[in-house]
Amino acid sequence: MMLDPNGRVALVSGASRGIGLAIVRRLLADGFFVCAGARSTVPLSDPNLLVAHYEATDPASAPAWVAAAVARFGRIDAVVNTAGINPVFRVLDEDESAADQMFLVNTKGPLRVVRAAWPHLVAAGHGRIVNIASLSGKRVGSSDNVGYQMSKFALVGATQAMRKAGWKHGIRASALCPGFVRTDMTADSTLFAAAAMSEADDVAALAAQLLLLPDNAVVAELLVNCRLEDTL
Ligand SMILES: NC(=O)c1ccc[n+]([C@@H]2O[C@H](COP(=O)([O-])OP(=O)(O)OC[C@H]3O[C@@H](n4cnc5c(N)ncnc54)[C@H](OP(=O)(O)O)[C@@H]3O)[C@@H](O)[C@H]2O)c1
Repeated sequence: MMLDPNGRVALVSGASRGIGLAIVRRLLADGFFVCAGARSTVPLSDPNLLVAHYEATDPASAPAWVAAAVARFGRIDAVVNTAGINPVFRVLDEDESAADQMFLVNTKGPLRVVRAAWPHLVAAGHGRIVNIASLSGKRVGSSDNVGYQMSKFALVGATQAMRKAGWKHGIRASALCPGFVRTDMTADSTLFAAAAMSEADDVAALAAQLLLLPDNAVVAELLVNCRLEDTL
């Protein structure tokens, strides 16, 4: 049986815009309490929403965000890691700083948030983790941004490890892997037409469903595409 969203508390990063903001809206509409993590403003106000500071590159940020959520809501049932970046790093680039930054924000960021929230997810009994990875974490597609692909492959791997570590505690972890989604991140893309990209609201609806699946109906990886590829 699906879990009841009412009264459940979800942390959502990347909440200032794009997919993260759509997830916050969707979870509030579904009855969740939401503690949004953002390093800038969140263009939304709701009695069931608390906005807290979250800067993925700062190791102290995730514990402070979790503490703020628990102080306000008393519990944490779910974490949705959405914050991410995609500066270009190609195979032959000498300067690795973009690759390092993506590993920090896209991979270590989610790990740190989950680690900080862990005791609360265990206490919740049916803790849920959704990591917004990417189809770039499943295959090398049309992009030549290997730094992004490495960070997202690693996030898919981290999600498997989280599912394994949390299983006996009732924690379930899913990697949600979209292809092109029409947001700021893809606004300058010349690889695919914006009008044909997936919509953030549809990705958000899938994220919400993943949070509500029962312990014995686990979607390890959910692959969402806006175009035809051989196996996707
Ligand atoms: N759009 C796509 O086609 C697509 C496809 C597959 C997967 N994804 C993934 O989906 C997630 C959301 O992407 P999006 O398209 O919604 O991107 P977006 O519109 O560019 O939003 C990125 C979000 O991440 C936040 N963020 C960036 N760096 C951060 C940091 N250091 N600390 C905390 N927050 C940070 C941003 O906050 P600020 O507003 O403060 O910058 C913003 O809220 C990302 O993980 C992305 O890789 C996107």
